[in-house]
Amino acid sequence: MGKANFQRPKGTADLFEENVREWQRIEQQAREIFSRYGYGEIRTPMFEAFDVYARSAGDTSDVVTKEMYDFNDKGDRHMALRPEGTAGVVRAYVENKLFGPEHESPYKTFYMGPMFRYERPQAGRFRQFHQIGVEAFGSTEPSLDAEVITMVVKFLAALGLKDLKVALNTLGDQGSRQAYRDALVAYLQPHAAELSKDSQTRLEKNPLRILDSKDENDQKIVADAPTIFDYLSDESKAHFEAVKTFLDDLGIDYEIDQTMVRGLDYYNDTIFEVMTTDPNLKGAATIAGGGRYSGLVEEFGGPETPGIGFGLGVERLISLLQAQGQAEMKPAGLDFYLVHIGDETQAKTLELATALRDLGYSADLDFTGRSVKSQFKTANRRDARFVITLGDEEVQTNKVQVKDMQTGHQADLDLAQVATDVADVVATLVAEEEK
Ligand code: HAM
Repeated sequence: MGKANFQRPKGTADLFEENVREWQRIEQQAREIFSRYGYGEIRTPMFEAFDVYARSAGDTSDVVTKEMYDFNDKGDRHMALRPEGTAGVVRAYVENKLFGPEHESPYKTFYMGPMFRYERPQAGRFRQFHQIGVEAFGSTEPSLDAEVITMVVKFLAALGLKDLKVALNTLGDQGSRQAYRDALVAYLQPHAAELSKDSQTRLEKNPLRILDSKDENDQKIVADAPTIFDYLSDESKAHFEAVKTFLDDLGIDYEIDQTMVRGLDYYNDTIFEVMTTDPNLKGAATIAGGGRYSGLVEEFGGPETPGIGFGLGVERLISLLQAQGQAEMKPAGLDFYLVHIGDETQAKTLELATALRDLGYSADLDFTGRSVKSQFKTANRRDARFVITLGDEEVQTNKVQVKDMQTGHQADLDLAQVATDVADVVATLVAEEEK
């Protein structure tokens, strides 16, 4: 047996209170805004049969070929940790027959939680990361595309994020895409030798992905390539035009990006990404991505049902919020810190803390035998608004002083009447500050 390894796995993180509070703020905002748009939360397993992801993401996608956390379980079933949210939600949609007449259509749902991809860890790229995502099934209306894009923009704006850009493109329907694929290959073939190694592989397997190659020379070659717009069917063209018009009407800014393709293979028609234009944050540029997909529900054995959705990377969102000074990275403060002097006061102090907590206040006290001076220091460090000191005298008279740490003002509180009086005491002290 080798030396035990007790280190956190590469590309994962431990989060503590100050961090987690920002996560909760984001999650709460998502729940609030998404429910305004009629989306309900769904929770699906963090692992599924390998095929669930392999079939949906596309056999040639990086996610499936290189990044899957897959394993055989003790029953020798080939399983994988979820690399993204869409596949599991589609699987659940089909398995639970959510397309049935007793369910709302479109069926609009959102999720949040950890996703796993075996990627090379770097800025904005982790092996366990978290997505907030949405999916809506059962409508081909372009107004739904506009609604989904609007919702992600409103959500990010509500969090205080600035310098955002929505990049919009269309991949057309199956027919448009096939025609375009052929045209693209015909254009790229004569340049094959000049393409990067990755792109050479893609030329056969997934030529559209060459369009968003990061290689400079590839980009030069791609600049003159035909665009999907020349190959769109009338229907796809009309759909895309309508999406743009709805977005214009709603005042949502976007930019058409003809070279944008997505890393997962299930998309058709509208695709979009939300990114920051802040040049200092290149590694974490894309915060959210999504689009329409039409074949997935069928692929899982359900009736032909269109879907649309997006996934948003929470770690990337947070680093952006931090960079823009919009993230609140500090622990929760306290309403009350109770300083107690001497052993005899411990019981009474704990009792008071419990009573305050029952009334809805946050309250804490020392459990480590600190000196009075150090208890006051703790109260400051914990950002306590009010401090109550309990010594022998207070225990005997059953009366304490509530000190407002912001103003230094004090007020009396009868310990026999905490439940009826404390709200008034707090209100009086706070009112004095506002005078
Ligand atoms: P995706 O573009 O693969 O789409 O991922 C969505 C977002 O997840 C990315 O924009 C990024 O913010 C974040 N993300 C992806 N990989 C990592 C990583 N290794 N580390 C940190 N963040 C990452 C999807 O997953 C689709 N399921 C979105 C969708 C839903 N399309 C339709 N419905």
